[in-house]
Amino acid sequence: MCGIFGFVSKEKINATPVIIDGLKRLEYRGYDSAGLALMTGRGIFCRKKAGRIFELEKVVGNNIESNIGIGQSRWATHGKPSDKNAHPHFSCDKKIYLVHNGIIENFKELRVKLEKRGHVFRSDTDTEVAAHLIEDFSKSYSFEEAVRLALKSIVGTYAFVIVNADNPTTMIVARNSSPLLVGLSDTHKFVASDASAILPHTRKVVYLHDGEFAILTPSDFRIATLDRKAVSRDQELIEWSQDEVKKNKFPHFMLKEIYEEPDAVENAIRGRLIVKDGLAKLGGLELVEDKIKRLNRVIISACGTAYLAGLTGEYMLEEYGEIPVEVEYASELRYKKQKFDARTALLSISQSGETADTLGALKEAKRKGALNLGLVNVVGSSIAREVDAGVYNHAGPEIGVASTKAFVSQLAVLSLLALFIGRQRDMSLVIGRRIASELSVLPDKMKRVLKEAPNIKKIARKYHKYDHFLYLGRKYNYPVALEGALKLKEVSYIHAEGYGAGEMKHGPIAMIDKNFPSMVIIPSDSMREKVLSNIQEIKARDGKVVAIATEGNKEISKIADDVIYIPKTLEMLTPMLSVMPLHLFAYYVGVMRGYDVDHPRNLAKAVSVE
Ligand code: F6R
Repeated sequence: MCGIFGFVSKEKINATPVIIDGLKRLEYRGYDSAGLALMTGRGIFCRKKAGRIFELEKVVGNNIESNIGIGQSRWATHGKPSDKNAHPHFSCDKKIYLVHNGIIENFKELRVKLEKRGHVFRSDTDTEVAAHLIEDFSKSYSFEEAVRLALKSIVGTYAFVIVNADNPTTMIVARNSSPLLVGLSDTHKFVASDASAILPHTRKVVYLHDGEFAILTPSDFRIATLDRKAVSRDQELIEWSQDEVKKNKFPHFMLKEIYEEPDAVENAIRGRLIVKDGLAKLGGLELVEDKIKRLNRVIISACGTAYLAGLTGEYMLEEYGEIPVEVEYASELRYKKQKFDARTALLSISQSGETADTLGALKEAKRKGALNLGLVNVVGSSIAREVDAGVYNHAGPEIGVASTKAFVSQLAVLSLLALFIGRQRDMSLVIGRRIASELSVLPDKMKRVLKEAPNIKKIARKYHKYDHFLYLGRKYNYPVALEGALKLKEVSYIHAEGYGAGEMKHGPIAMIDKNFPSMVIIPSDSMREKVLSNIQEIKARDGKVVAIATEGNKEISKIADDVIYIPKTLEMLTPMLSVMPLHLFAYYVGVMRGYDVDHPRNLAKAVSVE
């Protein structure tokens, strides 16, 4: 949700390509407008443009020498996407320029006060007040102190990168509940919303914490709290490689990431299974192992696709972990009167680790005394830092806005967790071994599903002009049906509804006719006969059916219009296979309808606003 980027270098460099490249790498976080500001020998050069980053590129030129620059790619919250609302925003005297990710909640009252003091605003954004506020304090204080005082007056969430023409070698950055990291190389310093933007330059990073700001100059870098306490923080090394954040041979990140789904599961389970003992080894939970033994309830909290992974996890943990589970949208949980105690665990699931609703619910549960566990992809992210203990899913960077590989890797970790908790309780060695051994061969089975891609593409071609779809599944595959529908909506803007197949007859069946096809997940498991009846009900009403079925199920091809086969596995693990055709189907349909599937309209990765 907005990508921000900046650099400070010892020598002057050709700055625009550096900023534009950084922004392009962050574009998945927001892409309705973009802008940059560069310190030059003749003051600050600033350009802002509505639209994608290539629109900005057209107006900035390619040879501006600078040793300090900032940029932002925006996802609008306050004020429509337009040139004037694009960042950077600046002070009346055009000396202070800043970019921002987050929301300034008290911007209205600040704006009124500043207008009374003569400040003239040029945009409809919340962000602009910060530039005027710093300008106001600058009349009596140094740049650093003016920023500090301004930050203390601001209520809300932010990552800021700020420059000042009167201090041409200084950049100040600050963070409160929006991600920000500093990358360090011998000659340059970088700031960015996430690591993918600085990987071409360095892998050495320092993460800023909430309530901290940092001062960067060509020769210096220091961090302090807003109460002026100096902070010393070790550098960390980013594990991601450059290749992971490039499309390579794929036309879209979404397709690349679907093809990475087998690797994502492989990476999630690597070193975490002891097959002969039927055990899962989760190092991140070792410190709280005894507390987990005593739990009598788990609440899973997440949003979007991560929530749907949580719904699948509910079936896994209840059946094999033998523990009652509730799954809540984080955006609702925080406003519920929930009872948390030491025997309740809140498991927050988040790919980005920055989703504001998930973070908010977690902070509330923490206050009430729950054991806070996390299942997070981005190392060092806010949620990862806030929980008591947790497990990283190690899916690698997910750049496509629609979540794909993160989902399957979340499922892999949830199945490990079910095994981990189950074996702490009554799960037998035999069952434990069966789960562990089947999980260990699952990535190979997932690779087999990818071989179905040409068939899935053919089916997408046949159905891509339909305007409505129903997605059905039962038990473990009910959340998969919801995920399939969500993905189709996101990247192809087609109306799609996901339902538990058993619920169809309680309402949705009224919509079925020859123009309303259904994607039905029917693996050969405990639900097969029931789902088969549901398919018959659809066929009796002239509905078309695409079935996701287990290899060897010949009968289904006589009833369904089209079939996509997946390998056989344990019922609990089926979702990691059955979701893959649905991800591919959504991808192909989106592309066939002519959309940019990596940048769906109105969406952004890492939703850091509530
Ligand atoms: C769907 C999607 C979103 C995210 C949701 C949570 O394809 O990407 O629904 O799953 O915004 O994001 P994280 O997992 O980063 O908390």
